[in-house]
Amino acid sequence: MLRSALLNVMIKAVHKASRALKRDFGEIEQLQVSLKGPANFVSAADHRAEETLQAELEHARPGYGFVGEEGGVREGSDKTHRWIADPLDGTLNFLHSIPHFAISLALEREGAIIAGVIYNPVSDELFSAERGKGAFLNDQRLRVAARKRLAESVVACALPHPGRGDVLLTRNEHAAVQDKVAGLRRFGAAALDLAWVAAGRVDAYWERGLSPWDMAAGIVLVREAGGYVTDLDGGEAMLTSGGIVAGNDAIHRELLTVVQGARKM
Ligand code: IPD
Ligand code: CA
Ligand code: CA
Repeated sequence: MLRSALLNVMIKAVHKASRALKRDFGEIEQLQVSLKGPANFVSAADHRAEETLQAELEHARPGYGFVGEEGGVREGSDKTHRWIADPLDGTLNFLHSIPHFAISLALEREGAIIAGVIYNPVSDELFSAERGKGAFLNDQRLRVAARKRLAESVVACALPHPGRGDVLLTRNEHAAVQDKVAGLRRFGAAALDLAWVAAGRVDAYWERGLSPWDMAAGIVLVREAGGYVTDLDGGEAMLTSGGIVAGNDAIHRELLTVVQGARKM
């Protein structure tokens, strides 16, 4: 498959960062029983992965800005381009030896996300998309699911973190959506939730309280797979509001209405 120079740069960086992450994941099980526990080890693993990503990208595209979950914002001399990266999305899964986590990397140009790569190093699934050029899982073209009714849909969601966000509102949303769908799932890695919407494995997904690095790459993936993505008000402010709804045209609309209805409960 012929990929653009930009996607090649992104994929090379993600693959490089994933090698240490995968090795570290192999050691987690032993660490569960160690005295210090695995939490410090995991935070070292994602810091290291972010450093590798940043170094690789800076080498390939000098001067681009970089915002990562671990290192915060690093301004570049080029003010039009910015990488947005989560070196380990699905930390809690990683910590518990659940092989569902990913590196997520996006490129923003003049405020618009133009490319995204999401890689699960355990399953070796590489999701990639570039604006106007389609979305792919490895070499295979992706398309969102075609179901037309929410009642037949499997929908991915998130559970509120204790003490964070509006727990009551999130519970109301769950209750409202659960009543209307065939199945509700909580997988634990926002980037993969979006990649799986793009791949048609789940019909839709919504979450609130996210950070830009959780969703930037996934947004371009879903859109390039023919799907719809908005914030929880139906607008475009996903990255700043932290809320997101994604799915095909019909399911996205229906889910958004149900989620918004939960505000009145
Ligand atoms: C988290 C995961 C999770 C989502 C959380 C995120 P992290 O990212 O994406 O699915 O529900 O809101 O913070 O902490 O594992 O990088
Ligand atoms: Ca994350
Ligand atoms: Ca993370």
